[in-house]
Amino acid sequence: MIEDETTTSSSSPTEPPDGRVTVDVHLGPGELDQALRHDVSTGLTGNPKELPPKWFYDEQGSALFDKITRLSEYYQTEAERSILGDRATELIELVQADTIVELGSGTSDKTRTVLDEATSTGHLTRFVPFDVSEEFLRDAAHMLATRYPRLNVHGVVGDFDRHLHHIPAGGRRLIMLLGGTIGNYPPVERRRFLSEIVAGMQPGDHFLVGVDLVKDPARIELAYNDPSGVTEAFNKNVLGVINRNLGADFDLDTFSHIAHFDPEHEWIEILLQSDHDQRVTIEELDLVVDFAAGERMRTEISAKFRRERLDAELADVGLESVAWWPDANNDFAVSVAVRPPA
Ligand code: SAH
Ligand code: AVI
Repeated sequence: MIEDETTTSSSSPTEPPDGRVTVDVHLGPGELDQALRHDVSTGLTGNPKELPPKWFYDEQGSALFDKITRLSEYYQTEAERSILGDRATELIELVQADTIVELGSGTSDKTRTVLDEATSTGHLTRFVPFDVSEEFLRDAAHMLATRYPRLNVHGVVGDFDRHLHHIPAGGRRLIMLLGGTIGNYPPVERRRFLSEIVAGMQPGDHFLVGVDLVKDPARIELAYNDPSGVTEAFNKNVLGVINRNLGADFDLDTFSHIAHFDPEHEWIEILLQSDHDQRVTIEELDLVVDFAAGERMRTEISAKFRRERLDAELADVGLESVAWWPDANNDFAVSVAVRPPA
């Protein structure tokens, strides 16, 4: 069933009594379904086959990602948390924001470090989490409104690729993109994504981005090949999403998780490899797809950065870097840039 794009503002029974939480849904079930159908039929009939990483994040996938952030091998989350903790005072002083927008907000767990500072010493009045994953966004929005009694939380459920212009306007803004999520875009798409973010910024608004840094490939590969198999389950969940939503019959046990570092592009490539020749039927698309033994399908890339490259990419879309904050091990860095006066 295909529906028109929906925009609903809604509350939930757990909403704080004074109505400080609103959630706009630009990606309701109908549109989500339509977009999934499009990406699956394009991605599985192409050569090589490919699926976009946004489809990892249904409720199960978001919960698996949350588990990943707690793995000792996945150093990124704690590294970024330590940077935000150390730099929160400096950041809030620098950006003077009354609105913080968080793109790909997930649980907004690390964000609390920044919000604590921004609501106590700063003059933050509004927080705008933006994510494709509705349940996680709603939970986070209510948790934050309860924790910060003077903060308005205006959540937006949408896709980076289509709905950034629905972010509410106004105010002096800090836009944050944490967790290395920028690295999930290949270079051309990344430039487009950054340009669209900048198009929604006023002169004086700031952009904060967290990036994983180039380092020993063995450490990077271990972060995506944890022995407990959480990343493997996260990767395979994309097949589960297709099974559950489009009536497909992927047997997850017949695909292997692969994550390897590509030194030329300085990104980790995440793939699913078919263990043998097999045929998969996607009932709701009326589609039959053959996989050869050993055939690989890319589900994600995760680019690793150097300071010069990130600064150049930010400058390319009209942003001026004003801060570069690596963690103590030089594993991860947070960069802050400003949209300068015209
Ligand atoms: N910022 C959090 C979560 C990072 S995981 C952290 O640092 O831990 C990436 C997040 O981006 C997920 O919450 C996922 O649902 C969201 N996401 C991925 N692709 C997206 C897209 N195309 N549009 C909107 N949100 C997306
Ligand atoms: C969200 N994103 C930055 C994660 C990453 O590291 O690229 C997603 C992920 N994929 C596998 N593990 C984590």
